[in-house]
Amino acid sequence: MKPNLRFGIGIIGCGAISSAHWTGYAALADECEIKAVCDLDAKRARQLADKGVGVEAYDDYRELLARDDIHIVSVCTPPSFHRQPVQDALRAGKHVLVEKPFGASLQECDEMIETARACGRKLVVTFQYRYRRDFNQVRHLLACGAIGDVVFAQMNALYWRGARYYEVPWRGKWSTECGGVTTIQAIHPLDIFLWLLGDVESVYAEMDTMAHDVEVEDIAMAIIRFKSGVVAQIACTVNSVKSDISMEFSGRNRAVSIPLAFHAVRSNDRGTPEIDEAGIRELERIAAQIETGTDDHTGPIGDLFAAIREDREPLVGGPQGRNVTETIAAMYKSATTGDAVRLPIAKDDPWYTTAGLQQLVRKGGRGDRTLQQK
Ligand SMILES: NC(=O)c1ccc[n+]([C@@H]2O[C@H](COP(=O)([O-])OP(=O)(O)OC[C@H]3O[C@@H](n4cnc5c(N)ncnc54)[C@H](O)[C@@H]3O)[C@@H](O)[C@H]2O)c1
Repeated sequence: MKPNLRFGIGIIGCGAISSAHWTGYAALADECEIKAVCDLDAKRARQLADKGVGVEAYDDYRELLARDDIHIVSVCTPPSFHRQPVQDALRAGKHVLVEKPFGASLQECDEMIETARACGRKLVVTFQYRYRRDFNQVRHLLACGAIGDVVFAQMNALYWRGARYYEVPWRGKWSTECGGVTTIQAIHPLDIFLWLLGDVESVYAEMDTMAHDVEVEDIAMAIIRFKSGVVAQIACTVNSVKSDISMEFSGRNRAVSIPLAFHAVRSNDRGTPEIDEAGIRELERIAAQIETGTDDHTGPIGDLFAAIREDREPLVGGPQGRNVTETIAAMYKSATTGDAVRLPIAKDDPWYTTAGLQQLVRKGGRGDRTLQQK
């Protein structure tokens, strides 16, 4: 496309998250124009289209993909229906921004990655946390050695969701939601946690469904061993009344945590800690070198625009989007088999495929609670 051309945008799926895409594109209106939206529910499509002027509303996404004036398509459909519209859009010559979770399985992720490669189109997975200033500050501190070797890391991805949340027909079922709290909510902080700590060696997980009448897990805990040697602990749930999204990365004497805070200690003569104010100031100074960031969808959208114009790989393309899916698949496998799971998950492993994972995974908790109670 010509360098100065404004990108024509189409949005497929006009539910809750579509408004974040709309707002993101609107904030970058110098570079793009939303041309059309689509939803199986024609009323929803019309409602979203009416936020703009001259935006067409369709109920069949193939009509949207047939338009030559649309260069980029956002896929905002439920998790089990990402792969098909993504591949159709890429084959129609569009660049694609797909919502998380990228695919229902590693197999789906790999199929989309391969289609993007074969079609020569850009594919970005919507992990908007990756562009946040605080997470990039932590990444900078870890990368430049300001913390030293990480000797303790922990993540809490604790949310609360009531029964009404699962009344949306695609939620709560493996065939359509493709997983529970780990796949849907915790996937954002977990993606960041893995991005910050590097390649995973093995995963041991426990999962259950304790507070909701659904098939998918509402609580998951895991020990993750990284190739760097770091051993870390994560907790994910939609059963936490308190709610807490937090992380800690501790070196021997210095640490950084989310919500963003800096910590430094020195040892007294008993080997217990005293606060090291100068160490804390030093961490603050280094973190301040990362000056900007964004926590909305302008992050992934802006990166997609730049990747197309500069013909470079996006920051969070298919391979990066696939990364967290592999650790989550390992968590499901481990929680079902009771064994630690080493990565990578090979293509001939049944947990690589959607059918294998969804058939094998333990549903609705560790078995029949009512039987256990009798
Ligand atoms: N990035 C984030 O922070 C974030 C937040 C919320 C949801 N999401 C993700 O966004 C996706 C959508 O979630 P949501 O909460 O907006 O769901 P939603 O149910 O509110 O909306 C999904 C919409 O897709 C439509 N749809 C389904 N099949 C379609 C098809 N074949 N053609 C056109 N439209 C179709 C549905 O009619 C519905 O309106 C999910 O993958 C979810 O995990 C991401």
